[in-house]
Amino acid sequence: MEKVSYVSVSPAKTATLARTLAQEVLKTKPGKQALVFGLVGELGAGKTTFIRAFIHALGIKRKIMSPTFLLWRRLVLPKGKRFKNVFHLDVYRLQKPGELYKFGLKEALANPENIIIVEWADRARRVLPQGTIWLRFKHGQKENERNLTLNRR
Ligand SMILES: Nc1ncnc2c1ncn2[C@@H]1O[C@H](COP(=O)(O)OP(=O)(O)O)[C@@H](O)[C@H]1O
Ligand SMILES: [Mg+2]
Repeated sequence: MEKVSYVSVSPAKTATLARTLAQEVLKTKPGKQALVFGLVGELGAGKTTFIRAFIHALGIKRKIMSPTFLLWRRLVLPKGKRFKNVFHLDVYRLQKPGELYKFGLKEALANPENIIIVEWADRARRVLPQGTIWLRFKHGQKENERNLTLNRR
């Protein structure tokens, strides 16, 4: 996948981008392993805003917060979808990437019915697969401006 860049001018626009991506994801054919998204960007860059809209667009109605204190949260998709589970990770407090194996990262990655979406993913880069789709969030010049880039490296 080539690199794609977007400029978001509001939280609502970021949510729209996330919903568009979620619709694409629901159309993808099953792969050999989980679909992994790595989100990178400083505090307030919009990672959780994006994930909240993304997860809701997949059909999950629960309240979505940064699981900073939980680190690892599993959400179950409604029946009949291409995917069964979404794992929402916030690895901000992670000491060592290898700790994620204790939560069952290996098993989660091996299942093509899983979506794994990681906030602060640069801190867990070592344990994320080659095919990870990277989403980078940066503050723009204006207050509500955010620059988003999506690519596979
Ligand atoms: N274009 C934008 N996209 C996303 N969030 C924005 C945008 N403009 C302003 N914001 C605000 O920035 C904050 C982003 O917070 P959050 O999504 O929790 O970021 P992170 O998870 O990266 O720390 C929210 O308060 C949101 O309302
Ligand atoms: Mg967050």
